[in-house]
Amino acid sequence: MQSTRQHRIYLSTPTSHGDEERYIHETFVRNWLAPLGFHCDAFEAEVCDYLAARGGQERSALCLSSGTAALHLALKLCGIGRGDTVLCSDMTFAASVNPVCYEGAEPVFVDAERESWNMDPTALEAAFAAHPNARAVILVHLYGTPARTREIRQICRVHGAVLIEDAAEAMAARDGGEPCGALGDLGVFSFNGNKIITTSGGGMLITQSEQQRARALHLATQAREDAPWYEHREVGYNYRMSNLLAGMGRAQLTHLEEHRARKAEIYRRYAAGLSGLPVTMNPYRAGTEPNFWLSCLLIERGCAVTPMAVAGALAEQNIETRPLWKPMHLQPVFRQNEYSCTGGVSVTEDLFFRGLCLPSDIKMTEEEQDEVIAAIRACF
Ligand SMILES: Cc1ncc(COP(=O)(O)O)c(C=O)c1O
Repeated sequence: MQSTRQHRIYLSTPTSHGDEERYIHETFVRNWLAPLGFHCDAFEAEVCDYLAARGGQERSALCLSSGTAALHLALKLCGIGRGDTVLCSDMTFAASVNPVCYEGAEPVFVDAERESWNMDPTALEAAFAAHPNARAVILVHLYGTPARTREIRQICRVHGAVLIEDAAEAMAARDGGEPCGALGDLGVFSFNGNKIITTSGGGMLITQSEQQRARALHLATQAREDAPWYEHREVGYNYRMSNLLAGMGRAQLTHLEEHRARKAEIYRRYAAGLSGLPVTMNPYRAGTEPNFWLSCLLIERGCAVTPMAVAGALAEQNIETRPLWKPMHLQPVFRQNEYSCTGGVSVTEDLFFRGLCLPSDIKMTEEEQDEVIAAIRACF
């Protein structure tokens, strides 16, 4: 049946609820339109409270202009610099890795496991064997699915490396009752427009101590010293979040659980609607609670239907899809970098060639999702 729908069905767009305006309006009423201020302070405190209420250890938070900025400052806190090696998840968005290069350090990519599509601890051990002096690990929770953080944290401890959790896509996900972003030594969230909650653009750094937060704040505000004039002992950055946007973040935070529940429902409807086809959904391990930021499918090996064929068919019906993140070791910009893969076959390559991200927009209606499901089914 031909759809009469005029609009496009998207992967993941920002969803506001109206109460954002009240918070933003307050910045005008109090005349405080600055890149720091009362909303920034409150947003940071509220995220820490949220993490604690969801089973996390005590943490400090610093809201920033992007998740990329938060990753960059995380690396600065670890003292990463020229000549250092950082072991990174291979299957991710380039933003996870680019800050390593900003500092002149070398990213080494680590293959994924099939159980969660996240970093494989065995491949990580192999990477440490080849790079015993690696100083940090950047661990991504892909599409909001928790990685094997505890196991990887243990491996990092043995090798004296810092664990940076890139939870840009994984706010509200949990592993063993603890929130992603507060499981590692340092954590990062993104509030980019496509994320589970948004400030239109923004990010947050989660630290274990107030001293680390203070150091990151110093770097994020041009490394200005405490002096009557502008005094600088080192190079800093302009990475702070606007008070206006932090207000939006506060309002969005109150809807985070609701967004997660809706994303979970979308994932479950796909799993049921696509049953019987030679496809599986992006998997997660027992004991973990993804935030289901993006629902993805994986086409069975040997099936004649390709992800690009499905993408093409859906595009004709004005439905957005996207291939999975192209592995970093396949990116031209990183062709010289090492890649640790222990299973004889690259899991990230295999996933990339067989996977597809599906519309996971929380404003998508059940009827629209049924259209997506029917369009996929028609491909097989
Ligand atoms: C895994 C991952 N890391 C880092 C980022 C960077 O976040 P931002 O866009 O806020 O800089 C993103 C998303 O954009 C991401 O998906």
